[in-house]
Amino acid sequence: MTELTLRALRKTYTGRGRAAVEAVRSIDIELRSGELLGLLGPSGCGKSTTLRMIAGLESVTDGDILIGGSSVVPLTAQQRNIGVAFENYALYPPLTVAENLGFGLSARRRYGRAEIRRRVADMAERIGITDILDARPAGLSSGIRTPDVLLLDEPLSHLDAAQRDTTRRELKRIQRDSGHTTILVTHDQEEALSLADRIAVMRDGEIQQLGTPEEIYDAPVNLFVADFVGEPAINLLPGTADGAGGVRLSDSVRVPVPQRPAAGRAVVLGIRPEDLRLDDTGVRARVAAHEPLLESGIATLSLDGLTKPLVVATGPEVRLDRDDTVRITADPRHIHVFDARTGDALR
Ligand SMILES: Nc1ncnc2c1ncn2[C@@H]1O[C@H](COP(=O)(O)OP(=O)(O)OP(=O)(O)O)[C@@H](O)[C@H]1O
Ligand SMILES: [Mg+2]
Repeated sequence: MTELTLRALRKTYTGRGRAAVEAVRSIDIELRSGELLGLLGPSGCGKSTTLRMIAGLESVTDGDILIGGSSVVPLTAQQRNIGVAFENYALYPPLTVAENLGFGLSARRRYGRAEIRRRVADMAERIGITDILDARPAGLSSGIRTPDVLLLDEPLSHLDAAQRDTTRRELKRIQRDSGHTTILVTHDQEEALSLADRIAVMRDGEIQQLGTPEEIYDAPVNLFVADFVGEPAINLLPGTADGAGGVRLSDSVRVPVPQRPAAGRAVVLGIRPEDLRLDDTGVRARVAAHEPLLESGIATLSLDGLTKPLVVATGPEVRLDRDDTVRITADPRHIHVFDARTGDALR
């Protein structure tokens, strides 16, 4: 049983003479045995801190971490049966494990050789791999213990786009086959969507939404999640509810929405580029730019009275020229409505 539970987990960094940093503010997550959770969020939101607490590399300010139902907080990093791979981490088969660990440090040209040796020894001890430092990675697969939990901190961030694609698929296959309960930290929404069973979207040390990729994508709980997930980004259009099942974006543009917000309420409509389509019954728009791509094109349109351009995914066969006039409609079932003040989704 290797469920991993984070219970009201909190981390405040306090440094001499420096203001305290609330890096993680109270996180609750329950990972099922064998689940791959994507921990997704912008730089500085507390992803690595969360992982380092689970690995035992960072003390816990408050809350609990349970693996298979037992707290691991009293255990040292070596006593926790956890496998870790950190940022910009790559294994070069010709090098020993120690040389591999040192490689990342020397690549940054910050440390001398003795300092690198010391840091490698220290790192190895903390993660409990001192006994394999002289082995080469290729010879390790059979010898290394099987971890209960695997923690991956942006393991693919150093790869180029093509390598990342292949490695992503490989990673998914290995995780499936091995059945390790895994947390994958990433700030790449596409990586999280394509790899994870569930995604936790983090911001400022807090979880904004925890759900399957479909839930996160199709039913974002607030503007932050809606905006962070999706490429090209969701269109966010400020407007005012008219109390009759519509939202006015301008004098000439009114969008019917199923949520029926009260008259006068300031809202923001969220419409993903792929939920808009060219349709003769729709609203008139002028083409500002069109980028035809292999699978689908991207059109940037301007609408009368709207300050922001609208991004629309077009079919692969569509050809549009600048200043063409088109008409567009949105599927009302895929229009998200957010309160303009709180950013929370209206359901
Ligand atoms: N050792 C530390 N001492 C003080 N503050 C820290 C320390 N480590 C991280 N922080 C701060 O805690 C916050 C969360 O940092 P963390 O490294 O967990 O973010 P992250 O989500 O992993 O970001 P990134 O995507 O850039 O790796 C940041 O404000 C960071 O500056
Ligand atoms: Mg990080």
